[in-house]
Amino acid sequence: MRIKVAPSILSADFSNLADELKKIERAGADLVHVDVMDGHFVPNITIGPVVVKYLRKATRLALDTHLMIENPAKYIDAFVKAGSDMITVHIETVTLKNLAAIARKLKNKKVKLGISLNPATPLERIKKALPLVDFVLVMSVNPGFGGQEFMPSALNKIRSLRDIFKKDIAVDGGINDFTGAEARKAGANVLAAGSYIFGAKDTKKAINSLRMTPRA
Ligand code: DX5
Ligand code: ZN
Repeated sequence: MRIKVAPSILSADFSNLADELKKIERAGADLVHVDVMDGHFVPNITIGPVVVKYLRKATRLALDTHLMIENPAKYIDAFVKAGSDMITVHIETVTLKNLAAIARKLKNKKVKLGISLNPATPLERIKKALPLVDFVLVMSVNPGFGGQEFMPSALNKIRSLRDIFKKDIAVDGGINDFTGAEARKAGANVLAAGSYIFGAKDTKKAINSLRMTPRA
């Protein structure tokens, strides 16, 4: 499967988002990972639809909006209207019935739906959701902050998921060239990375390094 790299703008310079988007666009990013946090589901607050609306104007890249919020159904319309191409919700925040309604709505709007699960949430929890979604986002850190260390327990989860799920598997949290290679080996094909990409001197080199195995 083609490897896609999704820089997370959580680690970007928020006073300069348009330039940061241009930078990752020129460096070959495949999509933009947009971390939305509400201070309830996670212990941090980031951005909402108003910022997504301006990100939309500033880039041609697809926007994947990662909703780390309680009651995501309430905000789906606003994020679609703002220009999200993909929306990821957490299994911890929805019932299957909720999710089915969100899936129907997004299908009508031609927006892709992803389901994410926290490190402590077993794979079993998302099994019934798999037929409803276009991709899965496996968290390899506890959501809330950029710059945390990759949790290797994500690898087994990715491996087991790859056996039963043929669409995109994304991994999010603590991704760098080494952990990225491990995640790819386990079966992930979309790598979200914040601090590794935005903290790099050479953005293009950092993005490319996530597509290939580092030399030992
Ligand atoms: C964590 C966010 C991640 C985060 C990744 O709550 O969902 O997307 O920005 O940042 P790094 O790559 O620095 O771990
Ligand atoms: Zn994220």
